[in-house]
Amino acid sequence: MLIAHSIDDLRQALAPYRSPAFVPTMGNLHDGHIALVRQAKPLGDVTVASIFVNRLQFLPHEDFDSYPRTWDADCAQLRAAGCDVLFAPREGDLYPQPQTFKVHPDPALADMLEGHFRPGFFVGVSTVVMKLFACVLGQTGGTAVFGKKDYQQLMVIRHMVRQFALPIDVVAGETQRAADGLALSSRNGYLGAEERHEAVALSQALRQLAERWLHPSSDRAALEPQALDALRARGWLPDYLTLRRRADLLPATAADAAGTLVALGAARLGSTRLIDNLEF
Ligand code: PAF
Repeated sequence: MLIAHSIDDLRQALAPYRSPAFVPTMGNLHDGHIALVRQAKPLGDVTVASIFVNRLQFLPHEDFDSYPRTWDADCAQLRAAGCDVLFAPREGDLYPQPQTFKVHPDPALADMLEGHFRPGFFVGVSTVVMKLFACVLGQTGGTAVFGKKDYQQLMVIRHMVRQFALPIDVVAGETQRAADGLALSSRNGYLGAEERHEAVALSQALRQLAERWLHPSSDRAALEPQALDALRARGWLPDYLTLRRRADLLPATAADAAGTLVALGAARLGSTRLIDNLEF
């Protein structure tokens, strides 16, 4: 696996290829990321991953400084998964000057849910992804693979690619889960043993919410408040547990058929904020 730290080195490494398949990450890789790399492999003539902890998408009180950086283990996993090129820019390579030009996604999509609780998050994500796309896929176009675990992020990126007519196919990867159902996430590493045991309650709450929505005798208006209360009673601090339409993430209505919806949740367990979702 070739490792490029600068944009020039990356472009040189990619010069012989016509259709890179790209998996952007912030490192601290787990089986969810590696599944995306394996999914990317047959989709291009060279498989590229990036590791860059993007300061722009963290709020001042969030975990930018403590975000786990596990370089050696990440490289070993990428090599084993058959990644050909790793782009790991230093901050000064990607942001040589303060990034004053930014991508502002449509507030109708980006200011709800994650964007509501983490204002500016999707500006930071869209800006860095646009820049990573310019570095990795800017010469040729190609494919980019994003996990469904970050459901709203995937939608924001899809809209960005469409609206800017970028020659990039955005492909979604399924969420990978631990045996008990907890969605794999870099932030799971923050959980203590008891919290790790409890953490599965988030995916269970989403499953229950979806099942109750589909049940003909449910009082649908009461489902979200009940689900929030139930999680609070277990000691969580939920930001949202909600049923949305997959197409635009607007609230589900009685007219929406099964198979077009998604239950999304974000909640804090101790000091760890977890997110998850379930299509149904
Ligand atoms: O999902 C992530 O890890 C990040 O938001 C991304 C897409 C790599 C941008 O920093």
